Amino acid sequence: MKRVEIRDLNKNYANFENKEITLCGWARTVRDSKNIAFVELNDGAFKSVQIVVERQNVANYEEVVKENVGTSFCVKGKVVLTPQAQQPFEISATEIEILGSCETDYPLQKKRHTVEFLRTIPTIRPRGNLFNAVFRIRSVAAFAIHKFFNERNFVYVHTPIITANDCEGAGEMFQVTTLDMNKLPMKDGKVDYSEDFFGKKVSLTVSGQLHEETMTHAFGKTYTFGPTFRAENSNTSRHAAEFWMMEPEICFCDINGLMDNEEEMIKYVISYVMQECADELAFLNKFVDTGLLERLKNIVENDFIRLDYTEAIAILEKVKDRFVYPVKWGIDLQSEHERYITEEVYKKPVFLKNYPKEIKAFYMRQNDDGKTVGAVDLLVPGIGELIGGSQREERYEKLVERIEELGLNKEDYSWYLDTRRYGTNVHSGYGLGFERLVMYLTGVSNIRDV
Ligand code: 4AD
Ligand code: MG
Repeated sequence: MKRVEIRDLNKNYANFENKEITLCGWARTVRDSKNIAFVELNDGAFKSVQIVVERQNVANYEEVVKENVGTSFCVKGKVVLTPQAQQPFEISATEIEILGSCETDYPLQKKRHTVEFLRTIPTIRPRGNLFNAVFRIRSVAAFAIHKFFNERNFVYVHTPIITANDCEGAGEMFQVTTLDMNKLPMKDGKVDYSEDFFGKKVSLTVSGQLHEETMTHAFGKTYTFGPTFRAENSNTSRHAAEFWMMEPEICFCDINGLMDNEEEMIKYVISYVMQECADELAFLNKFVDTGLLERLKNIVENDFIRLDYTEAIAILEKVKDRFVYPVKWGIDLQSEHERYITEEVYKKPVFLKNYPKEIKAFYMRQNDDGKTVGAVDLLVPGIGELIGGSQREERYEKLVERIEELGLNKEDYSWYLDTRRYGTNVHSGYGLGFERLVMYLTGVSNIRDV
């Protein structure tokens, strides 16, 4: 059996005019009016196909019309063009095989369901229109990212998932161990990790950046794209314990070159998704977020804002009474502050740069003012922080000084510091939260649904 896929058929139906083809899929609806019935068949393509089942053409008509929503069918039939109808073509069935009947308690019936309800049916949730649109876009966006970097000579590297290294220094790691929690080996009142699988304490990675930098210093341009884990206690609609991060790292590139790359990448991915997923986006624009298409178009067509942290604080101080969290130079911006800047002041993506060094990681490049570092976050309307990145501290002594200031163990970073001893150079990188990008591309407001 060689089946035609509905996504291909929808694109090229005219080429199939009057041809006999085979389709496989699941029924979205089954409607019977005695001698003629209609099955809306879906095989994973966003747009389903209408199957016209006539009693006189289909031997097992009676069995077919008894089937429920969710049943899997294999349909043989002729492609009939219907230029006057809503759908441009339909399939006039000649043979239908019932592959797998669907029980009547199938939870996705015709009506629209809330995302909260859908979360309670994880097995079936991917079969509805919302998840179909969101996860096709997720897949296409991932491909667009690979395409973008591949076209620009970046090498895709896979950094370790299990590591002893806390890149962000926030102590938010999930520990990985084979020790028996009920019988921990102890030495001098402490757990003896020499008996653990790796002979030391290890965890799941929070970012591949530090390991990646060793590869960047060989290839010049690299990116990682994989799962990251954070045991941070922020139960918000934008935080997950397990998420995917995409991290480019570029040698011979300063903070300005970095922002250029970020802006180009975001515009490229959005344009690609708009081109490949027009049906999905039209659906999301209608049912999830009516401003979605206009917002995406607006982003592709306009320049992003580039603003210093210090200037942002001045803007926020003018309206500080409207915030729950107090505003003053030195604070780590809360999402209410970030959203005010990007949603109300500029109404477009904003690069916020040169943050106080106290609130940023040890590896960021120290500016000449002695107070700030060359960090840059990309803030976008509706989400807040989409990307976090920086120019890296390439000067060996400065980096060591910062490691010591923060009370980190220099020995743990000796392999990382070596990149600064053997041919150091101005380099920069960033991390994109992939689920946040998918939220941005789909208008879906909770990370649990992307
Ligand atoms: O800003 P972050 O912590 O940056 C880093 O980890 C750097 N080492 C990246 C780099 O420069 N190579 O995280 C990067 C991005 C954030 O901007 C955010 O989009 C996302 O990762 N992110 C999360 N997404 C979902 N759930 C969480 N708990 C997240 N924490 C960070
Ligand atoms: Mg960040």
